[in-house]
Amino acid sequence: MRVLVIGSGAREHALLLALARDPGVSALMCAPGNAGIGKIAEQHSVDITSGEAVADLAKKLDADLVVVGPEVPLVLGVADAVRAAGIACFGPSADAARIEGSKAFAKDVMAAAGVKTAHSEIVDSPAKLDEALDRFGPNWVVKDDGLAAGKGVVVTTDRDAARDHAAELLENGHPVLLESFLDGPEVSLFCVVDGETVVPLLPAQDHKRVGDGDTGPNTGGMGAYTPLPWLPEQTVTQIVDDVVKPVAAELVARGSAFSGLLYAGLAIGKDGPAVVEFNCRFGDPETQAVLALLKSPLGELLNAAATGTLDQVAPLEWHDGSAVTVVVAAEHYPATPRTGDVIGGADGEGVLHAGTKLVDGQVVSAGGRVLSVVGVGADLGEAREDAYARIAAIKLPGGHFRKDIGLAAVEGRIAIP
Ligand code: GLY
Repeated sequence: MRVLVIGSGAREHALLLALARDPGVSALMCAPGNAGIGKIAEQHSVDITSGEAVADLAKKLDADLVVVGPEVPLVLGVADAVRAAGIACFGPSADAARIEGSKAFAKDVMAAAGVKTAHSEIVDSPAKLDEALDRFGPNWVVKDDGLAAGKGVVVTTDRDAARDHAAELLENGHPVLLESFLDGPEVSLFCVVDGETVVPLLPAQDHKRVGDGDTGPNTGGMGAYTPLPWLPEQTVTQIVDDVVKPVAAELVARGSAFSGLLYAGLAIGKDGPAVVEFNCRFGDPETQAVLALLKSPLGELLNAAATGTLDQVAPLEWHDGSAVTVVVAAEHYPATPRTGDVIGGADGEGVLHAGTKLVDGQVVSAGGRVLSVVGVGADLGEAREDAYARIAAIKLPGGHFRKDIGLAAVEGRIAIP
């Protein structure tokens, strides 16, 4: 099977590494890729937001399967265009991708499916903002009602900070979603979905704030670990049965059947799991950790979802132990990341590339999240040690990373209320 992966981050690098381990995959191609991906896949340039361009490239490369990594092309209908060209595609239609692209749509689907989520209100004008803010708090959750790569979310106990963020979004023409705060530790559960068939992967936890101890602004994700030693064993089944399956069935009932990766972001509260958000693609950086433990062939799994045969796939097998990924970010990320720095040690084992490119034979930073370093071990503590030992060999001027990925779980400090 010839597989073309669309995207250029560490998530796509992880997908390609896992696909490379599948004996059924004969050729790996990526567009546009990055400096690390270029070492394991043939790279091509493409406008990833153009369905026509992606479908043409897939035809030219004789791809049997296209895997779309990021949400923007999915929301714009790239998977529809690839399927219309007669090529199997892992990724939902534009219609189904609204589960991420429009938070209002996601809330409507969840309400119809009887899925627990935060109470929310959309604010579309500055005149309505103060009144609306008064109906929330003492923790304000302010989101951009569109795609914002995690950075459009502010969670704060400071009403002025909540107001400033909402006012800025409105000024830029973005409707704002205010949400009640969901208490409890967060879980990312990725499910491969094909209509009403749901196959969960291992649960993971992201670390969204930039600084140790969950301080500073939200980012696209600074690190993740899997599995979650503090999560009761039956919770994944509970999430699948009470959250993901009802949402998948509701999408089928609306004529918007989901095919691809449905990512449920949840808070595990005292009354059970409640949805923080849905995404229509693999999460980053959790994917880098989750796929490091996948034993089953990834190409076969994704192709089954893309061709409507997911119900025939054997139960997934996983390596024992834990995996941790730590993001190495550029100076001044997430605000104004500096690019163009030469990176040393970027070709080490477990070093996945995100914002990198090759310039005159040197690997140079080209984005905010530069690398995603994966460690594995018999338990979470060992996986952390492995990841941080690998990071020690990397040189990125001004680069920074969190030192506490997975630490609270190792120290038993995560508790379900
Ligand atoms: N882990 C956050 C995201 O992928 O959106």
